[in-house]
Amino acid sequence: MDSRLLVIENLNLYNRSGTQLVKNVSLSLGPGETLGIVGESGSGKTLTLKSIIGLLPAGIRETCEHREINGRCAMVFQSPLTSLDPLYPVFRQLVDVIELQQKLGRREAEDAAKQYLEQLSLPMDLAEKDRYPGELSGGQCQRILIALALACRPDVLLCDEPTTALDVTVQKQVMDLIRRLQQELGFAMIFVTHNLAVASQLCSRIAVMKQGEIIETGRKEKILRDPANDYTRELVDSVLPVPEVD
Ligand SMILES: Nc1ncnc2c1ncn2[C@@H]1O[C@H](COP(=O)(O)OP(=O)(O)OP(=O)(O)O)[C@@H](O)[C@H]1O
Ligand SMILES: [Mg+2]
Repeated sequence: MDSRLLVIENLNLYNRSGTQLVKNVSLSLGPGETLGIVGESGSGKTLTLKSIIGLLPAGIRETCEHREINGRCAMVFQSPLTSLDPLYPVFRQLVDVIELQQKLGRREAEDAAKQYLEQLSLPMDLAEKDRYPGELSGGQCQRILIALALACRPDVLLCDEPTTALDVTVQKQVMDLIRRLQQELGFAMIFVTHNLAVASQLCSRIAVMKQGEIIETGRKEKILRDPANDYTRELVDSVLPVPEVD
C-alpha cells in the first residue's frame, strides 16, 4: 500500500484563453514531511496549492494524470486580511469551524477554540470580547488563519506565503510557531514562499518553480550546496549572509 499522503502527477493548468499557467507539476508528500515550493511571483505556486485543495478560481482549466490525497488537507492563505471576512468576528468564526469540522457541540467547540487561542499566543479575551479581523494586527490575523486551518485537523497543511505580509520579527514568530505545531501535531506540510532562506529553515525538501514548471527538486542540502539549475543558483546566491559583528 502507498503510504504517501499526497501524490500529484503531471498537473497542468490553463487560463480562459488557453495559456498554460502550470506545466507538468508532480509532487508527493509522506506523513510528517515538509516540502518547500520556492519561485518568483507569478510562477504558479498559489494555483498549484489551490488545485490540490480543490479551490481553483473560476475559468482555470486543469488536467492531471494522477491525483491521490489520503488524508485531510487545510490551507493557510496568502494574505490574512483579504482571506478573512471583515464582518465575521474571529472567535465566532473559529468556534463555527471547529463545531463543523470536529463535529462538537457549541460549548465544547468554544473550549477547543480557547485552546487554539492559547496554543497560538492569541489574546485570550477574544473569547469574552470578540473582535473583527480589522481590529487585530496583521500577525494576529495570520495566527487566526493558522488556527482556522488547524481546526480542520489536517494531515497535510498547505501554507501559501503565510509570513510574507508580516514584518520580520512577527515573521520569525509565525515560522517558529508553525515549526512547533508541526512537531506537536505531526502534520505534513507544503510551504510556499519566494524566500529560499525561509523554505530551507522549515523544509527538508525543496521544489523550485519558474514560469509554471518545477525546474529543480531535491533535498534541501543538495539544493543549497549544489544546485543543478542556473535559476536555483541565482536564488541560492541571493540569500544574503548575516554580516559578522565584532
Ligand atoms: N484567477 C486567475 N485567473 C487567471 N489567471 C490567473 C488567476 N490566478 C492566477 N493567474 C495567473 O496564473 C499565474 C500563476 O499565478 P499564481 O498566483 O499561482 O502565482 P504565484 O507563484 O503564487 O505568485 P506570487 O508569488 O506573486 O503569489 C500568473 O501568471 C497569474 O497571473
Ligand atoms: Mg501566490
